[in-house]
Amino acid sequence: MRVITYLAGVGLLGCATLVQAAGNPAEGKEKAAACGGCHGENGNGAAPIFPKLADQHASYLFKQLSDFKTQRRVEPTMNAMAEPLSEQDMHDIAAYYAAQPITAENGETNRLGEKLYRSGNPASGVPACTGCHSPEGAGNPQANFPQLHGQYAAYVEKTLHDFKAGERANAMMRTIAAKLSDAEISAVAEYVSTLK
Ligand code: HEC
Ligand code: HEC
Repeated sequence: MRVITYLAGVGLLGCATLVQAAGNPAEGKEKAAACGGCHGENGNGAAPIFPKLADQHASYLFKQLSDFKTQRRVEPTMNAMAEPLSEQDMHDIAAYYAAQPITAENGETNRLGEKLYRSGNPASGVPACTGCHSPEGAGNPQANFPQLHGQYAAYVEKTLHDFKAGERANAMMRTIAAKLSDAEISAVAEYVSTLK
């Protein structure tokens, strides 16, 4: 249904980049006033448990807010925050955060994490993360593969455990996370946080 609405929207606007056309960052900044306490005023996360939203693809941010609203993605705080948002609010907020610069995390490159990210683990059947999230961790907005570079390691670790336990929806990531050991999860989380 969402796909049909999306395609209809693209047709209507005669525009290939619906999200850019639909979201108003200035409006989004005002609508995001209630988000700053946790995600930071510019989307760089007030603490490592609050994911950075800055510089993330607007299409991905919009999808997550929709998923929280419909409780496809279950997390009580965010389910409550997304509940009152309209589709236009979500587009505007997504456009605002997508336009903010992300603050990189400094630290040594985690070598085990780097190996896993770039080559996967052939022995356990884990694919390389680069295939979808790109070598620089920039993701792919068309395919809705999120950007990972600079994200807090604590959040990445938590969300990979959620995929692994089947607590966060997404067939692709559940299948991959199910094959990751706890040590691999910590290593790759640390690696992406320092990826620039
Ligand atoms: C009380 C703290 C809090 C507030 C306020 C809050 N969030 Fe969140 N947000 C979180 C937490 C915690 C998570 C991680 C959820 C999880 O672990 O799945 C999150 C996750 C998200 C994500 C998913 C990020 C990703 O990388 O997948 C988005 C998007 C988001 N929040 C947007 C918002 C917006 C927009 C608002 C304001 C309308 C908001 N949040 C307000 C705590 C908060
Ligand atoms: C086949 C494509 C694919 C591969 C390969 C892949 N991912 Fe993902 N990943 C996705 C998709 C799609 C999502 C978005 C899920 C959603 O919409 O909730 C995602 C989401 C994530 C997230 C959540 C980001 C956030 O902000 O909440 C993390 C972390 C992640 N992937 C890490 C990895 C790691 C680490 C690897 C390699 C071991 C990997 N992914 C390999 C497709 C992939």
